[in-house]
Amino acid sequence: MTPGNQTLPRRALITGGASGFGWAIAQALLAQGAQVAIGDNHPDRLAAATASLPHANLLALELDVTSPVSARAAVTACAARFGGLDTLVNSAGIIYFTPLAAISEAEWDRVIDVDLKGPFLCAQAAAALLSASGRGRIVNIGSDASKVGFPMLAHYCAAKAGVVGLTKVLAGELAPHQVTVNCVCPVGVSGTQMGQEVLNWKISATGQKAEDILAATANSIPLKRNPTVADIVHAVLFFLSDGAAFLTGLALDVDGGMLSTIPLPGVAE
Ligand SMILES: NC(=O)c1ccc[n+]([C@@H]2O[C@H](COP(=O)([O-])OP(=O)(O)OC[C@H]3O[C@@H](n4cnc5c(N)ncnc54)[C@H](O)[C@@H]3O)[C@@H](O)[C@H]2O)c1
Repeated sequence: MTPGNQTLPRRALITGGASGFGWAIAQALLAQGAQVAIGDNHPDRLAAATASLPHANLLALELDVTSPVSARAAVTACAARFGGLDTLVNSAGIIYFTPLAAISEAEWDRVIDVDLKGPFLCAQAAAALLSASGRGRIVNIGSDASKVGFPMLAHYCAAKAGVVGLTKVLAGELAPHQVTVNCVCPVGVSGTQMGQEVLNWKISATGQKAEDILAATANSIPLKRNPTVADIVHAVLFFLSDGAAFLTGLALDVDGGMLSTIPLPGVAE
């Protein structure tokens, strides 16, 4: 076996699959011959995605990851169309920048529901089929906010840190069934809907131009560039590859070294 090669095309459900990382992962898996369901609660994005890439192996599903009924229905639809399921990518997510004092209980609950309860419900719904496949994989999309506390993101950071804990629990529980469970933790990527929302928020919060903000963030990353959507897709595909079959319970930072190294104070680079 060549490392990284797939022996068999995968049968995948990708939540948040109509946009951003989810849609990019879906396209990459389709190119590998996989059967792919994109589940999303945004019908217009689902329609735009499928119109942009009509494909016999692509299934578009309306999915609200906060609903156990919806999660089970999506998994059932995958099983009916694909004859099983061996891959779940939890990419659906939302973010709000709100100071601590202004976070309402409803906003707190909404972020926790989508970003933390969603991956739990979808994993719970898919676990039996993933286990039955004998080669199951779950990849959760975490964040640098899984590891670091950012101001104004109490709910988002709590949810994303929780996703790492959930990843480890699922890895342990599903390991006897040869299901691996890992988490990919990107730093900010402006080339997605959420990334653009974050950039727009930074523009309004600082009064700076987009290009100046992007240049400053690139400069703060040890590898001196901002990540691309492809950087995150590669990490997900790695965890889905046969070569990653012995890796489980990991939370991989896709961050250009950001969280692993800090400059020595006062020492010029
Ligand atoms: N872009 C970044 O900078 C960045 C950085 C770190 C982590 N992330 C994480 O990556 C994941 C994907 O984000 P993205 O950047 O591709 O953003 P995106 O907004 O382009 O995609 C997220 C998708 O999730 C869908 N979604 C939202 N709520 C849902 C729900 N209840 N049920 C089903 N689908 C729902 C949206 O409709 C959207 O299509 C998220 O979990 C996000 O937290 C993003």
